[in-house]
Amino acid sequence: MSFAYSMYSSRERLIYFMSKARNEACWCGSGKKYKKCHADFDAKMDEIKFNPIRGQVRPPKNIINTPEDILGIKKSAVINGAVLDMMTEMIKPGINTLSLDEAAKDYIESHGGVPACLNYEGFPKSICVSVNNVVCHGIPSKKTILKEGDIVNVDVTTILNGYYSDASRMYIVGGKTTPEAQRLVDVTKEIMELGIAAIHPWGWVGDIGAACKKHAKKNGYSVVTALGGHGVGKAFHLDPFVSHYADASTGMLLAPGMVLTVEPMINEGTYLVDVDEKDGWTVRTHDGKLSAQWEKTVLVTDTGVEILAE
Ligand code: MF3
Ligand code: CO
Ligand code: CO
Repeated sequence: MSFAYSMYSSRERLIYFMSKARNEACWCGSGKKYKKCHADFDAKMDEIKFNPIRGQVRPPKNIINTPEDILGIKKSAVINGAVLDMMTEMIKPGINTLSLDEAAKDYIESHGGVPACLNYEGFPKSICVSVNNVVCHGIPSKKTILKEGDIVNVDVTTILNGYYSDASRMYIVGGKTTPEAQRLVDVTKEIMELGIAAIHPWGWVGDIGAACKKHAKKNGYSVVTALGGHGVGKAFHLDPFVSHYADASTGMLLAPGMVLTVEPMINEGTYLVDVDEKDGWTVRTHDGKLSAQWEKTVLVTDTGVEILAE
């Protein structure tokens, strides 16, 4: 076919090219024909009015995952979840946090994975273990010995065949702590769950932070704003940044195929945090009070949200 003789109007040419494109491979990389893959998605996207006053932005195409990508993340998450399960057995009064790190590294590597944290931007260990007033990025150490009543976050990220899964849980050393610490741990889990429940296809990333903020405020807790969740999948930290303290209907659009983490860090006292000047990693509450965090990796689906890693 040639247009050299102006047999076609420009509108006819456009229709010709578009019909051709509709039969070509989708931009998402699924290998399916565009018309059977993301044609409806793009049509839906074109209808949406992005309000810059609310910071509303379109998600870039590279963070839309294919079914194959999602399967890859889920396989990675099997290993990741097993490490977190293993921590339930291992965390006891008297154990040092380096032993937890070594067991996690062994498990991940012996199952064909790679611990994503190891050497990530210079992080020296395979997992993060954050005790009491440590908000996140605690470096496992032989010198950090867990004692009865400590509240501990273990954050694990596994890479399997290039796919990242990221999750963390809280553990109570010896199974019993103060009522105050227990309430912080329980409410933080609720905050994460409410954040996840606020995710809807064609909603906004700010909806997550709005739900988290609301439940934290209601319980008299503060939300750490300096750090947040993130897109994840073919890399560790992708767009969007997931604030846990935001307003509804703000930020990036949530489109089916996006994979992100919801990982609120919730403090008893001030939201302010400090980074350890010596190690450059350990984040602590500014006032020395307790902090808790839970994290899951989730997928925005056509109808709602699916947990990929926990
Ligand atoms: N797993 C953490 C997160 O949820 C990141 C840890 S980065 C590290 O994003 F370098 F500290 F390990
Ligand atoms: Co994590
Ligand atoms: Co994360």
